Amino acid sequence: MRKKLFAGNWKMNLTPLEGRTLIAALRAQLDRDSAALAADREVLVAPPFVTIPAVSQALAGSSILLGAQNVHFESKGAFTGEVSAPMLKCFGVTHVIIGHSERRHIFKEDDDLIAKRLAGAIAHQMTPILCVGETLEQRQQGETMRVVLAQLQAGLAAAPTERSAHLVVAYEPVWAIGTGHTATPQQAQEVHAAIRVALRDHFGKEQGDRVRILYGGSVTPDNIDSLIAQPDIDGALVGGASLKAESFARIVRAGMA
Ligand code: PGA
Repeated sequence: MRKKLFAGNWKMNLTPLEGRTLIAALRAQLDRDSAALAADREVLVAPPFVTIPAVSQALAGSSILLGAQNVHFESKGAFTGEVSAPMLKCFGVTHVIIGHSERRHIFKEDDDLIAKRLAGAIAHQMTPILCVGETLEQRQQGETMRVVLAQLQAGLAAAPTERSAHLVVAYEPVWAIGTGHTATPQQAQEVHAAIRVALRDHFGKEQGDRVRILYGGSVTPDNIDSLIAQPDIDGALVGGASLKAESFARIVRAGMA
């Protein structure tokens, strides 16, 4: 069984104080059910770099996992503006989002750089959450599978099979991110199924079946249940709806009685 993963991507939101406040509210919602939740799911938050230390403290004794929104591939050096895996690990960061569409499109990170970051994260025993997804124009031109699978392959090329079984993939159609236009469960499942085939090709069936594939793009408490019911949707990467404890907690409980 793949444990579901519900990851909150805070993007460039929440100061250390605000982050601490959100974690307190989230723990008030989730801590009492932590044993039931832990049976089949994991919860993760990915704050901005400077908010990570405060959130790390606020998470003491919690099963909520801590992630970052990017990572450099070197441990240290002349890379102005970047943060390394050893630095993140000082605060208990175990996961890192890599290749988010905002990194690809606004900051022009290409497949090469993304593959290097992914390899760096794996080399430091962090769990990469590799994001892939097509633009609206690409979908309209029937290019969805080609684009998504090319991004995936570029990332997987940097993921040695024997050390990358813990990799997570997030399918985030660019047209769904922050727009309120969620992919339908069928649209998402179709792409997730193709990603699953590529993962089995790369890792072999057993290991390929263990990789979680998250859906991201305007996930809300109202649409998560039908998404999570799909066979290859193993969780969600949540932006806007992860900034409020109540909505994120409801998403985390998706599909539970
Ligand atoms: P959204 O963002 O939930 O606000 O659409 C998702 C993401 O970019 O990871």
